[in-house]
Amino acid sequence: MTEASEVLIIGAGLAGLYAALSFAPRPVTVLSPCRLGDGASSTWAQGGIAAAMDKNDTPAAHAKDTISAGAGIVLPEIAKLVTEAARKHIAGLFAIRTPFDRTEDGEYVLSREAAHSWPRIVRVKGDQAGKAIMASLIEEVRQTPSITVREGWSAVELLTDDDGISGVLAAGPDGSLEVLKTQAYLLAAGGIGSLYAKTTNPPNVRGLAVGMAARAGAVIADAEFVQFHPTAIDLDCDPVPLATEALRGEGAVLVNRKGERFMTSLHPDAELAPRDIVARAIFNEYHDGNRPALDTRKAIGARILEDFPTVSSVCKSNGIDPVTEVIPVIPAAHYHMGGVACDASGQSSIPGLWVAGEAASTGLHGANRLASNGLLEALVFAAICAESISQQLTSGLSLQTTKVTSQDTGVAPGPKDLQTLRQTMSDNVSVLRDEKGLSEALRIIRRLDRKHKNKSTDFANMLAAATVITAAALLRTESRGGHYHIDFPAPDANQAQRSFLTLPEALMIRDAQ
Ligand code: SIN
Repeated sequence: MTEASEVLIIGAGLAGLYAALSFAPRPVTVLSPCRLGDGASSTWAQGGIAAAMDKNDTPAAHAKDTISAGAGIVLPEIAKLVTEAARKHIAGLFAIRTPFDRTEDGEYVLSREAAHSWPRIVRVKGDQAGKAIMASLIEEVRQTPSITVREGWSAVELLTDDDGISGVLAAGPDGSLEVLKTQAYLLAAGGIGSLYAKTTNPPNVRGLAVGMAARAGAVIADAEFVQFHPTAIDLDCDPVPLATEALRGEGAVLVNRKGERFMTSLHPDAELAPRDIVARAIFNEYHDGNRPALDTRKAIGARILEDFPTVSSVCKSNGIDPVTEVIPVIPAAHYHMGGVACDASGQSSIPGLWVAGEAASTGLHGANRLASNGLLEALVFAAICAESISQQLTSGLSLQTTKVTSQDTGVAPGPKDLQTLRQTMSDNVSVLRDEKGLSEALRIIRRLDRKHKNKSTDFANMLAAATVITAAALLRTESRGGHYHIDFPAPDANQAQRSFLTLPEALMIRDAQ
């Protein structure tokens, strides 16, 4: 069968949908594992999009903050490119009716988040940016005739030959398999959060894009840098809900069980220190039994109900009244700075495969992403990928689909083994790491790999992503940004560079443990 599409977009979060719109009127097909909007981290984003919108702010200042939060390994040219493009993309979203918060004078309401030198987070109804942006993108996508959305379809394998990517094996809602072949492929299938037992990410965001690309031979960059959001709400649920950093931007403070602030002695910016520093402080308080909590009462008070409806409603439904009580918090896996390595045009190391969104490692985030730069990078690189791909397409070659009946996609692991993998990542590849724990994690991953001989492609992708992350963490014998190595607690100037690893290299490290 043939569809008109010249490009296959794998994933339907913010990067996938924005890219699809950027291609219009060129025909594209989007694979969306769930109903559009469901299951995407973008929909759950609370804070918003970082952009120098204030007349006293500049993209150069935004780039400077990005570089400084990234702890020595951000690519300055990428920081410049992304921050300079920010205003244009905010205007693009506004043009498709994203209801950004505005003042009575029509200026954007800008929140402050950690490590930003200026309030520059463009938001929607306080903490509903992701949901509102995705709603406007979905509406626009549904009205764009050049976009075919296959809802309930996921990529399970990237197929390659000597020339690069040659197709994608995809599974439909009823489990039927098809090979899809076209001219170019954009991987925008999200991050890795749910590889961890404690995460703020939706359940199917669990390393599938990174794992799939690594298994197809792609180079993975900066895999060791996982960002733990400091203030996930400490509830007995999976995933754990987020208490947006914008609350701290409005003056909420972090306290221990005695009501004492613990950030003031640790960093001059206290609660607005870079995210990795706040996450480590909360992690230590938590493990010392000091019950860290976010206290919004004085700074925000009853306004939290109106201004932060997502956070207040999750608190209320779990028996916490944020107007009168503190909110217990714990760090949780939130964002992967690493991902499929790509150049400034979004091209991966596999010819014909571009990558955008959290699945990509562009060099923007370095060792620690600046808050609300994730959605911004997804927008900017989605548009860059669309332009770069369009320049390379030859007209006339469309999407060929072939039904596959013989392919065995293997057996899914039982809940126990899945939980073993996720708990191992949370216990050993977490906010604090050491050589013993990382080696142990690699041994457990190897055991799981060998135990499941005929494993599902889904589990194979998860194990591949976990292997690359853990091996990269073992190789970085220093502490930098989100990677804190107890055995090497200081940064090492000789290691102030990005890391690049392939799956075969990571497997060699795994098998040496
Ligand atoms: C938040 O609202 O705190 C999350 C923002 C982000 O992860 O960039």
